[in-house]
Amino acid sequence: MSQRVRKAVLPVAGLGTRFLPATKVIPKEMIPVIDKPVVQYAVEEARAAGIEEFIFVSAEGKESIGAHFSAHPSLEKQLSDKGKTAELKLVRDTSLPPGKIHTVIQENPLGLGHAVWCAWQLVGDEPFVVILPDDMVLSKTPCIKQLIDAHARVGGHVVAVEDVPRDQTNRYGILDVLSEQGSLAKAKGLVEKPAPESAPSTLAIIGRYVLDPIVFKELDKKTKGAGNEIQLTDALNRTLSSVPFHGLRFEGIRYDCGTRVGFVEANVAFGLAHPDMEPRLRPLLKKLLEE
Ligand code: UTP
Repeated sequence: MSQRVRKAVLPVAGLGTRFLPATKVIPKEMIPVIDKPVVQYAVEEARAAGIEEFIFVSAEGKESIGAHFSAHPSLEKQLSDKGKTAELKLVRDTSLPPGKIHTVIQENPLGLGHAVWCAWQLVGDEPFVVILPDDMVLSKTPCIKQLIDAHARVGGHVVAVEDVPRDQTNRYGILDVLSEQGSLAKAKGLVEKPAPESAPSTLAIIGRYVLDPIVFKELDKKTKGAGNEIQLTDALNRTLSSVPFHGLRFEGIRYDCGTRVGFVEANVAFGLAHPDMEPRLRPLLKKLLEE
């Protein structure tokens, strides 16, 4: 039986250049979708999947991310004194238990692979989850739980995948598929950001992974790939002879909050998923489109 997955790595050290000037002072991950920062959705999804420990790979100037998940005694006291119990619960629910939240600083944004490598000491020798908060998933079962359940069956690396339009393969890590069984696609190779004409498939990795710790040894070689960055996909590709690699066609819809259009789409989708907002939002959107 495979080891229980307890730890999540959240790489949040990127510059967020696509959202400048919003991200000049506010980290991209702290921009809210409806009423919660984007990164809070990722943490809630992981907690709902049984993850206990969180490792943020962060950068200078992004301290508000760690602060958001720590206790805020003065705010809690003021809300309590005013009898605002519902609001107090909202604030308390965001706090992660002491000792269960860690931040490592990635001094230079050398790539996603390097960001994950920064968490090696804190993860140790056990399977772990990587979540890119930019990708938000609306689903019945948390996407991370779907991956962990699949990982319990097949072990190795299990990542969330979806089919993307062929003209977008150069934005993703793409699977070279060996075989498919139900919702699991076994890969014989992986390519980071292939041109549409050379992509081995259109099955793209999105920001949810369960990884075997063997990947750290490959990342430790610090080999540079596409964009002159240390790519996670390349390191995973080099472990394929040692551990199985499966893509899971997860149940749910992914929203790419790393782009402006995707961010608006996520706000609308998550707004419509709110029972108290949906009845007012739906007619409003219809009206806007008719204008
Ligand atoms: P992106 O490619 O979206 O980069 O990174 P970015 O800097 O966040 O955004 P743009 O492109 O400048 O607008 C994907 C994920 O990997 C993390 C980012 O924080 C994001 O969660 N990342 C990327 C790191 O933590 N370190 C890196 O060196 C690169």
